[in-house]
Amino acid sequence: STQHYDFVKLPKTDLHVHLEGTLEPEMLFKFAARNHISLPWKNPKCLYEACKFRDLSGFLAVYYKGCEVLVTEQDFYDLTHAYLQRASADGVVHTEFFFNPQIFRKEKLPLHAIMRAVFSAVHDMQERISCLYMGTVMRTRPVEEALQALDELTPWYHQIAAFGMGGAENGNPPSRFRPYFDACRERGFRICVHAGEEGPAAYVHEAVELNVDRIDHGNAAIHDPDLMQTLVEKRIPLTMCPISNLRLNVVKNLSEHPLKQMLSRGLCVTINSDDPAYFLGYASDNWAAVHQALNLTTNEIFQLAINGIDASFLPKEQKEKWR
Ligand code: ADE
Ligand code: ZN
Repeated sequence: STQHYDFVKLPKTDLHVHLEGTLEPEMLFKFAARNHISLPWKNPKCLYEACKFRDLSGFLAVYYKGCEVLVTEQDFYDLTHAYLQRASADGVVHTEFFFNPQIFRKEKLPLHAIMRAVFSAVHDMQERISCLYMGTVMRTRPVEEALQALDELTPWYHQIAAFGMGGAENGNPPSRFRPYFDACRERGFRICVHAGEEGPAAYVHEAVELNVDRIDHGNAAIHDPDLMQTLVEKRIPLTMCPISNLRLNVVKNLSEHPLKQMLSRGLCVTINSDDPAYFLGYASDNWAAVHQALNLTTNEIFQLAINGIDASFLPKEQKEKWR
């Protein structure tokens, strides 16, 4: 029988979460109303109904639509503050969240206003939750735009831990973005990339060739034993997102999720929330769902929690403090 745990009480990390994906339907409608933005959904309940996704691109269409309600500096402050509050209440002690400035039109709200809002919310919550910020870009856009986004964030480099890449994966392999990832590295950043979510193991292999510090998702690696061995030897962590995978039909059922098998082969796998407002699951929900489907042992739960610290981009001294 399955041991019962209260995963809210477990001190956790959330290393793969998109700030834009923490926009709860109620807040989305509130922002739409105060910014006079019309939406394709009548009310929050209709939006919840629209959150039955066929695949990643079906989700991304709703997600980018949702981003349109984020207009003012106050919106970005409220969004960030509310997410950090929810994560903290959910037992997340350290979060590393992505934000993609490419989504937002600079003529609507200048980047410095967005960044000021996000970082001031992080500052106002710093006693409650530890937090690192990661920039990210869209793999469906030209690599020149990724390089431009990297340049535009120059004034905030000391507040940025890493750079990543997301968006519709199939047909958009990581290797095309080598100039971007090389530039990120040259400027002293850690790098990570979404790979092997909908895409094949070959994309995860390309991510390894790019020398990434971390792979977001990485599910498809389970089909390539040599690649799995490489991930173990190079100690490249995977930030997996079980409920996201379920909602986007990356897995049919959580009992088929490769997380436990990868853990037993010695991979540094971690549990994360991705876009919790749209997938109806925060960090503790992901832990509970995995435990229910895969019946984790106490040792496995312990290992997953430790992996969250090991895989984080925190400085070494701080990691030791958490452990
Ligand atoms: N952007 C936000 N969530 C994403 C996901 N799960 N995969 C790729 N890009 C994303
Ligand atoms: Zn993601």
